[in-house]
Amino acid sequence: MGFLTAVPAVHEGLDIAVPFLPESTIEGGANQPQTILVLGGASSVGSSAIQILRMSLPQATVIATASSKNHAQVTSLGANHVIDYKKGDVVDQIDQATSQNGVDAILDAVNGVTLQPELLGLLAKSNGKKKLFSEVLTGNNLPSSKVPEGVEQRQIAYTSILKKPGAESLLKSLTGMLRDEEYVIPIPVTKVGTGFDCIGQGLLTLKNGGVSGTKLVVMLE
Ligand SMILES: NC(=O)c1ccc[n+]([C@@H]2O[C@H](COP(=O)([O-])OP(=O)(O)OC[C@H]3O[C@@H](n4cnc5c(N)ncnc54)[C@H](OP(=O)(O)O)[C@@H]3O)[C@@H](O)[C@H]2O)c1
Repeated sequence: MGFLTAVPAVHEGLDIAVPFLPESTIEGGANQPQTILVLGGASSVGSSAIQILRMSLPQATVIATASSKNHAQVTSLGANHVIDYKKGDVVDQIDQATSQNGVDAILDAVNGVTLQPELLGLLAKSNGKKKLFSEVLTGNNLPSSKVPEGVEQRQIAYTSILKKPGAESLLKSLTGMLRDEEYVIPIPVTKVGTGFDCIGQGLLTLKNGGVSGTKLVVMLE
C-alpha cells in the first residue's frame, strides 16, 4: 500500500516520470523539480517515495522529515538531508539545508502541512516554474483555501494510479525491484502475531503511541 500510494504521489502529484512506469512519461524534463521535500520520511508512504524519487531523479536533492531515531534509515533510502520535525524550527532547518533557496516541490505523506501550513512558504522561495504540493489523502488534509497563490495542491490516493496506463504491471515491477535489490521494503515490519485476535492488540499498541519507523503486521493463516 505504501508503494502503491507513493507512486502516484511522485508521478501524478509532482509530474515526475517514474522509470518503472514507462507508459506514463511526462513531457518537459527541464521542469522537473531539483529539490524535493518529503514530509514523513519514516512513514511507509514517505520512505517508499524517497526511493522512487531517487530512482526517478538521481541528481535531485531530497530533504525528508523524521524523528532523530529514524534518520539513519531515511538517509539509507536516499534522502540527502533529514530534519527532525520534533526539534526546533523545521522551516529554519530546511532553510539551512537549502541555503535559503526553498524547495521546488513538497510531497506530504503525513499531513505535515496541515499541522504547519508555513512549510508551503518554502515553495515560494524556489526558482522552479511549477510549485507542486502533492498531498496524500488522509481525511485531515489542508483546505484549498489555505494554499497560497501559485502553489498547486494535488491530493493523491492509491486508487489514482490504478487508472493509469501500465498500472497493471506495477506489482510485477515491485517484485522484480525487490528481487534485484533496487528497492527495499522501506520500513522494518514488526509482527504482532497470527490470527484476527491480534488485530486488537496491534491497534492498542498504536493507540498507546511509541510505534515509530516500523509497520505493525498481523499474520492471517
Ligand atoms: N488515501 C490513500 O490511498 C492512502 C494510502 C496509504 C496511506 N494513506 C494515509 O497516509 C498516511 C501515511 O500512511 P503510512 O502507512 O505511510 O503511515 P505510517 O507508516 O504509519 O507512518 C507513521 C510515521 O509517520 C511519521 N510522522 C507522523 N507525523 C509526522 C509529521 N508531522 N512529520 C513527519 N513525520 C511524521 C512518524 O515518523 P517518526 O517515527 O520518524 O516520527 C511515524 O513513525 C496515513 O494517514 C494513511 O492513512 C492514505
